[in-house]
Amino acid sequence: MINFFDPASDKSSDLGTPARDSEVQVSLSIDGRAITVPAGTSVMRAAAMLGTSIPKLCATDSLEAFGSCRMCMVEIEGMRGYPASCTTPVTEGMVVRTETPRLAGLRRNVMELYISDHPLDCLTCSANGNCELQTVAGQVGLREVRYGFDGANHLAEKKDVSNPYFDYEPSKCIVCSRCVRACEDIQGTFALTITGRGFESRVAAAGGDDFLSSECVSCGACVQACPTATLTEKSLVQLGQPERAVITTCAYCGVGCSFRAEMKGDQLVRMVPDKNGGANHGHACVKGRFAWGYATHPDRITKPMIRKRLEDPWQEVSWDEAVNYAASEFRRIQLKYGRDSIGGITSSRCTNEEAYLVQKLVRTAFGNNNVDTCARVCHSPTGYGLKQTLGESAGTQSFDSVMQADVVLVIGANPTDAHPVFGSQLKRRLRQGARLIVIDPRRIDLVDSPHARAELHLQLRPGTNVAMLNALAHVIVTEGLLAQRFIDARCETQDFARWREFVSLPDNAPEVLGPVCGVPAEQIRAAARLYATGGNAAIYYGLGVTEHSQGSTAVMGIANLAMATGNIGREGVGVNPLRGQNNVQGSCDMGSFPHELPGYRHISNEGVRAEFEQAWGVTLQPDPGLRIPNMFEAALDGSFKALYCQGEDIAQSDPNTQHVTAALHAMECVVVQDIFLNETAKFAHVFLPGSSFLEKDGTFTNAERRISRVRKVMEPLAGKADWEATVALANALGYPMNYQHPSQIMDEIARLTPTFHRVSYAEIDRHGSLQWPCNDAAPDGTPTMHIDQFVRGKGRFMLTGYVPTDEKVNSRYPLLLTTGRILSQYNVGAQTRRTSNVAWHDADRLELHPSDAESRGIRDGDWVGIGSRAGQTVLRAKVSTRVAPGVVYTTFHFPESGANVITTDNSDWATNCPEYKVTAVEVVKVFHPSEWQKRYQDFSDEQRRLLKERRTAEQPEKAEVRR
Ligand code: SF4
Ligand code: SF4
Ligand code: SF4
Ligand code: FES
Repeated sequence: MINFFDPASDKSSDLGTPARDSEVQVSLSIDGRAITVPAGTSVMRAAAMLGTSIPKLCATDSLEAFGSCRMCMVEIEGMRGYPASCTTPVTEGMVVRTETPRLAGLRRNVMELYISDHPLDCLTCSANGNCELQTVAGQVGLREVRYGFDGANHLAEKKDVSNPYFDYEPSKCIVCSRCVRACEDIQGTFALTITGRGFESRVAAAGGDDFLSSECVSCGACVQACPTATLTEKSLVQLGQPERAVITTCAYCGVGCSFRAEMKGDQLVRMVPDKNGGANHGHACVKGRFAWGYATHPDRITKPMIRKRLEDPWQEVSWDEAVNYAASEFRRIQLKYGRDSIGGITSSRCTNEEAYLVQKLVRTAFGNNNVDTCARVCHSPTGYGLKQTLGESAGTQSFDSVMQADVVLVIGANPTDAHPVFGSQLKRRLRQGARLIVIDPRRIDLVDSPHARAELHLQLRPGTNVAMLNALAHVIVTEGLLAQRFIDARCETQDFARWREFVSLPDNAPEVLGPVCGVPAEQIRAAARLYATGGNAAIYYGLGVTEHSQGSTAVMGIANLAMATGNIGREGVGVNPLRGQNNVQGSCDMGSFPHELPGYRHISNEGVRAEFEQAWGVTLQPDPGLRIPNMFEAALDGSFKALYCQGEDIAQSDPNTQHVTAALHAMECVVVQDIFLNETAKFAHVFLPGSSFLEKDGTFTNAERRISRVRKVMEPLAGKADWEATVALANALGYPMNYQHPSQIMDEIARLTPTFHRVSYAEIDRHGSLQWPCNDAAPDGTPTMHIDQFVRGKGRFMLTGYVPTDEKVNSRYPLLLTTGRILSQYNVGAQTRRTSNVAWHDADRLELHPSDAESRGIRDGDWVGIGSRAGQTVLRAKVSTRVAPGVVYTTFHFPESGANVITTDNSDWATNCPEYKVTAVEVVKVFHPSEWQKRYQDFSDEQRRLLKERRTAEQPEKAEVRR
């Protein structure tokens, strides 16, 4: 195992103040040694760069210097007094002394004051050995405290243990304000404040009596910044200081934060965001930093299991037996129903290497192209729309690019909840003065957050994105705001001319489409002018764009806007899909779609196929296989009979749940590979225990195409990593796979995928992470795409006629339901529901506007029934002005909520991505669960009973399923 641990922790490499980027270089002397640094660098940082550690308490290099503790005093020739080195910038020819008898005495005096109001329980303190106060006390040589401990002090102050993940022990607080500044500058929540003055100064969490009830979103930035044990992870208190650390990547969202997994033996003590992480620069959110307890939750299933019928109890078997049984079932079914009667689903939560192997297994061992991935239900329109217009199915920028943006347009995305670390970065840029346009049916947090608010919120009706984008384009074209030089040089002339003519039509004017969208025409005009003329303008979008019947059209509309205004091909601009799951970009890159081999190359391309046929030693089918919705249809028709589903919970995440479960029921062999008995596994015949991200090696690719290493920190609980299970299954099916380590799989991917040619574990380790394309033309990767020309050569404007969805409101279903995520929960909730994150969100709620609530006699907290053309469910109401009248909203993190019982089969015309974001519903006050919920509960109870009563491998005589 690679051991990246620096025994003194990240704090030892803390240079005290942030780096400065300046072309002007300044030379100075510190303790007689010369150094040259960029202008603006602090004396403290310059000294640290020379290896001289000036004592400090209130400074840390993740925060701007504050200058409150006075510990970092130095002597500077020609300057009076003892300036604080953290707040003093270097100047040319400066002569600095950091260690003199006078300075030593002054620092000891300051430290003495701190210690006189600090508990002397170092030996039993959780921070012992990793406390900056303790370190600095030693550094300044403090040996005694002359003032005694009898005077006024804070030693008896009460601990706040309300937050599930960290404690606040005010008696240890030195009021350095690092936590307050971290919450403001890094996280952007402004939840902390220093109350009182002088001796009375204390840290307080705003908006509540304690941390849990306050505005704190539990990102942990303050905990990381705290130099003492005042703010400490509970896990650290419980387990003690870690002994080693391994750099790995978060397995939650598409931001792809890098972490130091700090370990003690085989136990994970804490996750500390890595300062060198390219996507997160040392920040994290509540999920990645704290919600990792699911990985060792008692619900984990660690033994393979099989059963013949869904009514049978599970039977634990060996890996060999389970894999051989699955293989024999796949072969039996193919013999009986034909080659195409089986298929597989790759996971966007698993690694690139694992997704690659599953699609390879389907195309080789199954002999068909029936492979799909959960991107089908989220960002498949991104793949299609960006490929058509720009030539590559991926976002164009790095997250850091937003720091160069002057205008940010967020459409159909909720970054502070779904991509929190990027949300914090965006808010930082907004605080610096960038201007924000939000296009969303719901008043998301970004619309009005502390010190960052949207200049325009276009609160459009769900389902009208394309109308909105066309209206914006109309203004840009008809008001002469086009970037004509860019268009002439970079885009297809004829396509542009056709598009210009189309968007110029009076039918696309805001005055016509505004009423369709429910947004005043003037607001649309103002947004278009701001986007087109405000400087660098960047678009960030999410599932609120893609999960529509015109999802692909909307993506193309977004790309059209960027090309029309020249906002592409440099820092600060671009088209940025915010990918939901950790590896949704990667699973698509790896060839998980039925029509594409790795690297988005069409299966019908003979040359491409020949390349893979030679490498894989099989003949590939030239026609695309079944997409997930087609698999369900075919299952109900009786022609699709078996499925290998790795790390995906289609029974909960896909729309029209009853349709999905009927399809699963109709199959003869469902093989589920997961860490829990998820909703899909309740319909399974073979269960292969999965491994969490902590238990395997591999890579994830985030929303900025950044390939980062996932490193094993503990052995797989079930004995096999997911890739090993796929290898075993392929071999059992008679297709030889022989990989000893995931790095060999990546080597194969790199050989076969032009955009990955230079990717290897060694190269990733060398760079920290790599953004594809990474090949001979771009050996260090590609942070910004389409710089001199588009990947497809010339950018292509696509026509984007607005076609209203078939899902219409009427007197029976007068409201529109739209769905989304919440910060503390993740996707189907299988992981986060098994953590203390339920303290913030323990059930899905239905948000509805006070006027809709009142007209239905509904009050906050009431049970309400929601019915659509697809089904009914029951949730608790949350009356809120975040949604407009006529619109209701819910999350989908809890299976019993049945949010997808309501959503329909409507889907994107190009990719079949479901139209999750628009469902016509009615809401009424009720007192009982829905019929579906009762059936769900009975079935789930039965399946849990069958799991509980599973026969163990030690009872082979009871085995009923043998072949
Ligand atoms: S955990 Fe995050 S949001 Fe909460 S107080 Fe600390 S920095 Fe602020
Ligand atoms: S809680 Fe920690 S970071 Fe905050 S002021 Fe106190 S010692 Fe400083
Ligand atoms: S922002 Fe996303 S990747 Fe980063 S810690 Fe949170 S969940 Fe993990
Ligand atoms: S570290 Fe410079 S004043 Fe605190």
